[in-house]
Amino acid sequence: MTNHKKILVALDTPNISAVQDTIEQVGEFVGGFKLGLEFFNYNGVDGLKTAMTGKDNFLFLDLKFHDIPNTVAGAIRGCMSGVVPNMITIHTSGGFEMMKRAKEESALVASKLGVKAPLIVGVTVLTALDNNDMQDIGYSNDTKEQAIKLAKLAKRAGLDGIVCSAFEIESIKKACGDDFILVVPGIRPQGVDSGDQKRIMTPEQAIEKGADYLVIGRPITQAQNQREMAKQISLSLDK
Ligand code: C5P
Repeated sequence: MTNHKKILVALDTPNISAVQDTIEQVGEFVGGFKLGLEFFNYNGVDGLKTAMTGKDNFLFLDLKFHDIPNTVAGAIRGCMSGVVPNMITIHTSGGFEMMKRAKEESALVASKLGVKAPLIVGVTVLTALDNNDMQDIGYSNDTKEQAIKLAKLAKRAGLDGIVCSAFEIESIKKACGDDFILVVPGIRPQGVDSGDQKRIMTPEQAIEKGADYLVIGRPITQAQNQREMAKQISLSLDK
């Protein structure tokens, strides 16, 4: 895959026409788009259809499912009932059975529909949590140990990969192997405001470390000229 195809633009908005506009502006310079809880809770499966039908961009549906296996399986069926996403997130802390069931269900639905099964990737430890928060919620591991432990469990349960920060790429690839897909947010091109992200890397650095997908939101969506920004990032990755 050429590097610019690894860029997934995070569209954190409830607004369907803003999503359509960004897809139109930047679609040719990136691999695809991430739609998440905000967009989905306002617009649902129909909104996804409206925004993505007819587009050949990769769709990352980031709804971070976390419930008992049966309920997560139902949620997986539901979110595949309009356009079928290329990648879906679940929480690894939902446990082995939940992850296994999510992966199996997504493969089953895809085979009934005759489409490619979505990649199922796990969220390990949310980057908003620090070591104090870990103690508060009863985990004795620190965030990094816990992320590696959950990544290994996700791999055993059959997940395709996980979401992690660029700073964890090397240790998780080492623990889970090169084929385990790492989806990396917290990306900031040189000179762009870091916003509320604390541990950031440039797109080039994250690719160099071995990221399989880069999730980039505000640097593109809040740019004066979205198209130009996406083009610049894309060129910086493919030179
Ligand atoms: O605007 P920005 O580039 O910071 O957007 C990053 C995207 O990645 C957001 O949609 C955010 O919710 C998501 N994300 C993150 N950190 C994680 C997991 C997801 O920033 N650990």
